[in-house]
Amino acid sequence: MQAYSRQAARDGRLLGFVPTMGALHAGHLSLVRLAKARAQTVVVSIFVNPLQFGPTEDLAKYPRTLAADCALLEQEGVDAVFAPSAEEMYPTDAVTVVNVEGLSERLDGQSRPGHFRGVSTVVAKLFHIVGPQVAVFGQKDAAQVAVLRRMVRDLNLPVELVVGPIVREADGLALSSRNAYLSPDERRQALVLHRALDQVAEWAAKGERSVKALRALALQVIATEPGAKLDYCEVVSPDTLLPVDDTGAGALVAVAAFFGNTRLIDNLMLGQAAK
Ligand code: PAJ
Repeated sequence: MQAYSRQAARDGRLLGFVPTMGALHAGHLSLVRLAKARAQTVVVSIFVNPLQFGPTEDLAKYPRTLAADCALLEQEGVDAVFAPSAEEMYPTDAVTVVNVEGLSERLDGQSRPGHFRGVSTVVAKLFHIVGPQVAVFGQKDAAQVAVLRRMVRDLNLPVELVVGPIVREADGLALSSRNAYLSPDERRQALVLHRALDQVAEWAAKGERSVKALRALALQVIATEPGAKLDYCEVVSPDTLLPVDDTGAGALVAVAAFFGNTRLIDNLMLGQAAK
């Protein structure tokens, strides 16, 4: 992979990179298109990163569909797929990690201890192996974006991060590889996340700026669905992930909830911070 990217650099081709864990859907493919618009060579990585899964999480059953993923990426005109094994990425004597302190303990980091340390470590490794000038991530994982932006800044990594909008099903459910776990009933219940964010967007558009009011509204909508077990619902700065009092300067409304055993996340950007 390093030889490939050095060759791209020698040929003067900009390299765009989309890191994924596979089980690709239209959300991932939208990021590939953004990468293609920004770079002449596009590399996608497919690696289910053990380091970002907690001991009781779904590492073993995470969907793995490498052949179908490669076929989709070929159709999109992706130049190379990097799909290393866990042994290759983490030799047993590896002891170095990247941790974005503070940020990594907020939102998903609070309910999934160690998760973002796993994400920042693998993404730093992938950046070093793939050597992209541009890397594309999804707004779907807004806290991940905040953590990685900070890592790139703090470690002076020579890569530009591009963030693509959330791709949804026609009924509003945010696409996720984990949607495959949902029973038809849970799939219907999960729509409550989008309904809650939609209501918040509507109130915000009418001028409501009080975080307390907007958060209460989201909680009220989520409570109408008894199948939803709330993990968090926060209104925070999209950069620091710390709570804000007022949405005037822009804010991220982020929600996470369990439907059965499946944990889903969704979010909405309000105000000036929306990019
Ligand atoms: P994964 O969940 O496979 O997601 C890969 C990329 O696709 C992420 O940047 C994610 O935000 C984006 N994505 C997922 N669903 C999306 C949707 N509905 N619309 C737009 N983009 C979407 O995120 C990871 O993998 C991993 O943490 C990774 C960064 C690869 C590190 O292991």
